[in-house]
Order: sequence, then C-alpha cells, then structure tokens
Amino acid sequence: MKFIVINGPNLNLLGTREPDIYGTTTLVDINKELVDFAKTLDDNIELSFFQSNIEGEIVDKIQQCADFSGLIINPAGYTHTSVAIADAIKGVGIKCVEVHLSNVNNREEFRKNSFISPVSTGTIAGFQKDSYKLALLGLYRLLK
Ligand code: DQA
Repeated sequence: MKFIVINGPNLNLLGTREPDIYGTTTLVDINKELVDFAKTLDDNIELSFFQSNIEGEIVDKIQQCADFSGLIINPAGYTHTSVAIADAIKGVGIKCVEVHLSNVNNREEFRKNSFISPVSTGTIAGFQKDSYKLALLGLYRLLK
C-alpha cells in the first residue's frame, strides 16, 4: 500500500517554530518516525513525502496522487483558506486524512474552520507528532 504525506507552509520550520504548540521535533525526524511506525503495521507500506510553502505546488502534487492508496495531509495555514486544495483532493478522489499537530479547535476562532475536513475521511488533531502516526493507523486499517 502506497501513501503520500503532504505538509503545507511553515512546517519546514518544525523543531524551532512555536515549540510549545508544535513540539520540538523537526519535520525530517517526524517523517523518519512515521517510516518506522509504518513498518510495525505492515512491511508493504510505502511512504512518500512532500512539503511546500506554495499552494499551487501542493495542488499540483495532489493531482499526481491518483496511484496512491491514500493521502495524509497537514495543510497548515491553507487548512483555513484553501478552496483549491480541497477541490484537488475531491477532484482526484483520493482517500484523505487531515492532520494537525495542535488542536485547532481550542485555539483562535479562525482555526476552527477547515476547507479540508469536508473532503477528508477523518481528521486527527492535537497529538503533536503522533497525529501523523494516528492518521496512518486509521487510514491503513480502513483500507486493508
Ligand atoms: C497546523 C494548524 C494550523 O492552524 C496552522 O496554521 C499550522 C499548523 C497544525 O499542525 O497544528 O501551520 O496545521
């Protein structure tokens, strides 16, 4: 089973970016931990990773995802603004889990709105780096 993990803007700064909210682990290390976690689930899981600060690049990448079994996406700030990313997920018809490191529901009011939730199978938020593992676990179990 092939999954792609897409991270949006400013998540390349993880490790030093607002560590009290997002934790101290870098994105590179979060991705490594996810690869190790995937192996504990199933040796046949393949993970690909993509990060961009640019909305159009994320849309382009999603459009190339048709041959993946599922998408794990942390759209970061674009969660709350991007019709284009939501349309791309819907257009490709890929199963998708929306991920957030922080609990977007107990922060500022504007973070409670997500354009991505309506096109996602589920959302995991608030478990810092473990949000990605929980998303992979959920998606894998749904699809297997
Ligand atoms: C985030 C939450 C978003 O509101 C924020 O803009 C981010 C990160 C999270 O992972 O908690 O950049 O998606």
